[in-house]
Amino acid sequence: MQIQVGIITISDRASKGLYDDLGGPALKKAAAGYGWTLLADALVPDEKRDIQRAIREHIARGCSLVLTTGGTGVALRDVTPEAVREIALRELPGFGEVMRMESLKITKNAILSRNLAAVVDQALVLCLPGKPSGAVECLGFVVGAIPHCVEVLQEVPTSC
Ligand code: MTE
Repeated sequence: MQIQVGIITISDRASKGLYDDLGGPALKKAAAGYGWTLLADALVPDEKRDIQRAIREHIARGCSLVLTTGGTGVALRDVTPEAVREIALRELPGFGEVMRMESLKITKNAILSRNLAAVVDQALVLCLPGKPSGAVECLGFVVGAIPHCVEVLQEVPTSC
């Protein structure tokens, strides 16, 4: 099952050029390591509409998996979970639960993480922390469930 992935960095400061986007490149490297095909990448501010547009664009380009990094924290401008939930068919709580529990072994701040996974159209959207190392770590904690999840979501719905 070839996984076609889109990567979205969500950061006010990076999107204004105030600092380099390091999360996107770190996730691209991790995705290549998992043998996934990168179809799209984007850098957007912490704005719900921009986040939702980028996710929809990636899915329209054929991404079966969309990874976002950033905006899952407790700061006022962290709106990634709200943006995704608004357009999701359903949330997959196991991904967030495992990411928090495994991350707790690394940092007490894992408790602050509102990381989640949700289904948008027929794609899996996985929202990771903004810190590049955190994003790659969290992806690693849940990567084992991604191939089967994507396979089931991509199945052409059989008319019963
Ligand atoms: N999880 C891992 N594995 N590594 C991390 O560095 N950062 C924590 C948490 N989860 C982190 C982590 C912190 S400091 C925050 S604020 C939340 O993720 C959300 O991060 P974000 O606001 O960068 O999305």
